[in-house]
Amino acid sequence: MSTLLRDYGESVSFDWRLYRHDIRGSIAHARALMKAGFLTTSEFQAIEAGLLAIGEEIAAGKFTLSVDLEDIHMNIEKELTNRIGDAGAKLHTARSRNDQVATDIRLYLRDEIMALQQGVRGLQQALVGLASANESVLMPGYTHLQRAQPVPLAHHLLAYVEMLERDHGRLADTAARMDELPLGSGALAASTLLLDREEIAKELGFSRVTQNSLDGVSDRDFALELLSALAIVGMHLSRLSEDVVLWTTTEFGFARLSDRHSTGSSLMPQKKNPDIAELTRGKTGRLYGNLFRLLTVLKGLPMAYNRDLQEDKEAVFDSIDTARMALAVTAEMMCALVINNEAATAAASDPALLATDLADELVRKDIPFRKAHDIVGKLAAESAKTGVPLDKLPEPLIREVCPELIGQWEALFDPIRSLKARSAVGGPSLENVSRRLAHWQKIFG
Ligand code: ARG
Repeated sequence: MSTLLRDYGESVSFDWRLYRHDIRGSIAHARALMKAGFLTTSEFQAIEAGLLAIGEEIAAGKFTLSVDLEDIHMNIEKELTNRIGDAGAKLHTARSRNDQVATDIRLYLRDEIMALQQGVRGLQQALVGLASANESVLMPGYTHLQRAQPVPLAHHLLAYVEMLERDHGRLADTAARMDELPLGSGALAASTLLLDREEIAKELGFSRVTQNSLDGVSDRDFALELLSALAIVGMHLSRLSEDVVLWTTTEFGFARLSDRHSTGSSLMPQKKNPDIAELTRGKTGRLYGNLFRLLTVLKGLPMAYNRDLQEDKEAVFDSIDTARMALAVTAEMMCALVINNEAATAAASDPALLATDLADELVRKDIPFRKAHDIVGKLAAESAKTGVPLDKLPEPLIREVCPELIGQWEALFDPIRSLKARSAVGGPSLENVSRRLAHWQKIFG
């Protein structure tokens, strides 16, 4: 083989990560070979002991991997054969690297998905903690990044907890659909040497076996589903990061980052930069990129296995590493975030945020909503023009435009009162938020 092809085609420099799962898969395969009469008991035992020893050496960093052997699968098998001879050379009976790789990745991803789900839980826990510690803090809710209506800060944080709950569910869905054993598909057309696939599946913890050998070796939908779920995780983390970037500006001032989770400027001594949030926002590009990378790899492949499929791994590994780190570091940053109650509450107390409440009050006095909206719109325009806050507009003007509200005008500008009325399921009343918080606290303790 040309040295260039060797270096171009090797995957062991990255697929070494599959070694534990490769060894588990090979032991299960060897046991099935023994049960089918293709290996003696002592050959099986030699294979099992040899593979376990190799696994320990790889884990201890004492194993030299060679690019001459393309991938982790060939490295392990070759070394086993060097050590135990003919029994090792029998391991690949009724198996192809195609169904072997497809099996190993699934085993690997199953573990990684559980770790990712824990990462999601960790961030949810951090957000619930921050929300509980600041349960009474109000802030303006925004649309179009314009101040809209007051909401409890906890409501804002718990929105992310809901988003992360869906992320957790998407990861679970991915794991459930991926839960089938492709081993036994062979290179593409299974094998003339029959093994008990159901038994192998049971030993490896798969619920089912794949039903089409061509699909078994060439399907990477599960990897796409994971990349897609992680792209959405990234989008959520990026939105949260953007909120943190805004909240920690002097202009907003709703929150302050801990020193451990921000950086200074080499030039400007006053700076405290939200690097974690910015990096997470930036790294979301990778998570999207990896999804498109694999979608593109897969789109033109003729049935069944093609070497292009080797390109699945780096995309998946990179997204897993990126998402895991991003979840962990964001959780740490959110745990240490200090909320500035005064600044947030002061911003939430802007009387203009209660303009809708005025219109609602007019509706209660039987004025059609569109008309009520017009009336309050006039007052808001007047306030904007004169610079007099809405709640301080002169009484004669109010008497002229909406006499219905005379007498209760000032009282209408209390954000707590406004929130109390927003008690529909999912609404931001303090009672609702506290109930939802209790729901999450029960889960995350
Ligand atoms: N290293 C390859 C991969 O990771 C395995 C190749 C197996 N099949 C083959 N026909 N070359 O996908």
